[in-house]
Amino acid sequence: MKRTISTMGAFALLAWFALPTAAAVAEEALGNVNNGRVIFQMGKGDDVPACQGCHGIDGNGNDEVGSPRLAYQVDTYILKQLTDFAQDKRTDFTMYQMNDISKALTEQDRRDLAAYVHTLKSPYIGSNLDQLRRDGAEIGDAHEGKMIAEYGAPGHGVPACKSCHGFHGRSAGRMYPAIGGQNYVYLKSQLEAFRAGANTSAADIASGNKEDNARTNDYMAQMRAVAKNLTDADIANVAAFLTLARPNTPGNPRSPSHQ
Ligand code: HEC
Ligand code: HEC
Repeated sequence: MKRTISTMGAFALLAWFALPTAAAVAEEALGNVNNGRVIFQMGKGDDVPACQGCHGIDGNGNDEVGSPRLAYQVDTYILKQLTDFAQDKRTDFTMYQMNDISKALTEQDRRDLAAYVHTLKSPYIGSNLDQLRRDGAEIGDAHEGKMIAEYGAPGHGVPACKSCHGFHGRSAGRMYPAIGGQNYVYLKSQLEAFRAGANTSAADIASGNKEDNARTNDYMAQMRAVAKNLTDADIANVAAFLTLARPNTPGNPRSPSHQ
């Protein structure tokens, strides 16, 4: 009996020490947040301009240059994109600048930047749709878009975005980027790009022979399978819903599911 108790005591002690360690491992940053901050705010050498020049000091991105919100994005997703740009697996459709910038970063810099932007708890603002409308952009119907995000469009083979991207696009695991609160212009261009990518054969992807605006860097063609059945109206509608969707709860700028 005495022995059982002491074994249990040892186990409890072990659990006591093991718990905080496990928590620390789960939150371990992908890289050096401070180095990431320096590059984000000041750039590096001649070839890497400050990221904030296009993505904003708060990391919220900017519809005028078509740049995405990076703040609080899943860190492993950011690292994957920077690596894909550096290896030309993904093309920046605006002016190829992200490809040049990513090539000029070291692997460690990319990790540090991913770690840094993940720490930015900027409020979710999304796009100013009224302003975009005044500027002549076609804006979809957010209510219709909400249906697609939640239920898909089963009539023409579109699955619910929620099943991979989580409630209001807040992300549902480290493979799936947050898309709620993302900028309208960027959301629309990427959905069109995945759709164009779905029409590109594996042979053309391998030989680099693809449309300039085709995105084909999604693992196992998951997003291409979704986007191939989206209509222009679906894209405008779901982008209008997502940019306004708040992945967080009021008073808490962190979207809870980024682990
Ligand atoms: C000259 C403007 C500019 C600068 C400077 C810039 N970016 Fe970008 N970035 C963009 C644009 C525009 C896009 C969208 C590309 C597209 O539409 O294909 C983008 C896309 C990205 C993406 C993809 C995000 C996603 O959701 O998939 C990441 C990551 C990124 N940038 C990180 C950075 C980092 C880190 C830096 C600094 C080292 C940086 N950017 C500097 C304009 C810029
Ligand atoms: C089967 C899972 C799955 C479903 C369903 C899905 N997605 Fe995705 N989506 C992904 C993955 C995986 C990526 C990341 C691709 C990569 O690694 O580059 C992605 C990326 C994206 C991106 C690019 C994000 C960025 O920052 O560049 C957008 C936009 C997007 N999805 C929108 C949608 C919308 C809208 C729907 C619903 C119509 C949807 N997704 C449904 C798996 C999915």
